[in-house]
Amino acid sequence: MEEFIKIKNLSRIYKMGKEKIYALNGINLDIYKGEILCLLGTSGSGKSTLLNMMAGLDKPSSGEIIIGGVHIEKLNEVQVTKFRQLNVGFVFQSYNLISSLNALDNVSLGLIFKGLKKKERDEMSKNILEKVGLGERIYHKPSEMSGGQQQRVSIARAFVDAPKIVFADEPTGNLDTKTSMEVMDLMCSMARRNNQTLIIVTHDIETSVYADRIVDMRDGKITGIENNKSKILLSGEETI
Ligand SMILES: Nc1ncnc2c1ncn2[C@@H]1O[C@H](COP(=O)(O)OP(=O)(O)O)[C@@H](O)[C@H]1O
Ligand SMILES: [Mg+2]
Repeated sequence: MEEFIKIKNLSRIYKMGKEKIYALNGINLDIYKGEILCLLGTSGSGKSTLLNMMAGLDKPSSGEIIIGGVHIEKLNEVQVTKFRQLNVGFVFQSYNLISSLNALDNVSLGLIFKGLKKKERDEMSKNILEKVGLGERIYHKPSEMSGGQQQRVSIARAFVDAPKIVFADEPTGNLDTKTSMEVMDLMCSMARRNNQTLIIVTHDIETSVYADRIVDMRDGKITGIENNKSKILLSGEETI
């Protein structure tokens, strides 16, 4: 498989007065194109810091992050914003939808920078909202939807322009077990269908069963990488 993301000797140190906190401490990891990867670890193990580094939201103290041949840590603000707009989608624990906008506008907002006409943006957004099962809810605002529905809107927003990478930080953190499984099913099957790389951060072992590989993290280090033998095969996926 093709290596898509390469992380070399990555560290992130936070200075708190005289104390140094190693949020990441010498991370080495290769992630493949089309892979579903889970970063699994207890709170404070460095998962979100690693995700933010890969998304160019934060700079490392040392080390390299190379995505599709590009050194993310060397990009300036303008370049990194462009990189994110072209390549990356996000799903967050708390959905991060704009409360005054309906589902359709929440999804289509991120397409404005692409220079598409409103009609085209709305068409694309409507299509993907139908795919995530919200065809009947496109004019509903976040406050008029359940947590699971709001997370579906945010999945639609992340996937609408088919980014190469989707980062999901604790995507099921606010959802009950049944809804969590539905949301994971949806997100993973969308990524599989389009050969997108999906990186999921979680502290929950039940969420990690959807991944191809599970990366265990502790105290800013990788403590193990397993091929996931109990991987949940999604509907429509070929069995081996
Ligand atoms: N902005 C910050 N300033 C100081 N310490 C931080 C900051 N962000 C994260 N940390 C520390 O880095 C460590 C890793 O945090 P984080 O990546 O958020 O962990 P996780 O997502 O696994 O819960 C924790 O000890 C946390 O307190
Ligand atoms: Mg976190």
